[in-house]
Amino acid sequence: MTEDNLKQQIQWLLKEKYNGHATEEFDKDVERLEAGEPLDFIIGFVDFLDCKIDLSKRTLIPRVETEFWVDQVLEDLDYSAKLRILDIFSGSGCIGIAVLKKLPNSCVVLSDSEVIAIEQIRINAGLNNIDPSRYQIIRSDLFENITGKFDIIFANPPYISLKNQDQIQKSVLKYEPKPALFGGDDGLLYIEALLAQAKDFLGDQGKIYIEFDPPQENEIVKMIKRHGYSGHGFIKDQYNRLRCVYVAK
Ligand SMILES: C[S@@+](CC[C@H](N)C(=O)[O-])C[C@H]1O[C@@H](n2cnc3c(N)ncnc32)[C@H](O)[C@@H]1O
Repeated sequence: MTEDNLKQQIQWLLKEKYNGHATEEFDKDVERLEAGEPLDFIIGFVDFLDCKIDLSKRTLIPRVETEFWVDQVLEDLDYSAKLRILDIFSGSGCIGIAVLKKLPNSCVVLSDSEVIAIEQIRINAGLNNIDPSRYQIIRSDLFENITGKFDIIFANPPYISLKNQDQIQKSVLKYEPKPALFGGDDGLLYIEALLAQAKDFLGDQGKIYIEFDPPQENEIVKMIKRHGYSGHGFIKDQYNRLRCVYVAK
């Protein structure tokens, strides 16, 4: 981090967590920042679309690229639709909770394999005042404990390639949970597994939205064809890179 960046983050910390009043606790937090800990973990939450996302269990910090493409998908959906939606690889629950806020007549299953994520999702659903009758939180390795059909599956799987580990920011490797990051040697392990299994969980008009790393585009298109899906398209992020692929059953 540059000197200017650090200064900016210290100002942000002071404003967001300490309401402008520097205390001893603030000085300790500045030391954590200087040691490389992500600001969002120190502040303890982020904003994601219209939701407040607590990060006290230290799930993956929601990224602005994810926020951008999810917003685009939600903008195109009918507000009053009664959909059954799955947020698989849910982490903090940011995607599923944003969906629950935006689509008041829809229900969402939020699932993740990790205990910390299950706890974090529960905290965030409560924090955002979501009616408990509208969601289910399920600990599941991929689809193992998931049942029924969905109109939409949202997925932000771990997709960093182990081969590219050395290009990842040190603070990400040190502070963010490993199960949220890596998708095997080429990063495609979970995307392939998702595409192989998801069809059985989609309604006839069902669609999957999957976040990925732009260089994975060609391999993902091959997988979509190999698994016999009827069509696909892409959504770009705010940096004009392909970031999400949507796949029709
Ligand atoms: C990239 S994070 C995405 C978190 C969140 N959806 C977001 O967009 O910020 C991927 C999540 O997948 C979970 N995960 C990893 N392996 C999994 C598996 N086999 N089955 C289900 N979830 C898994 C991780 O625990 C992590 O929370």
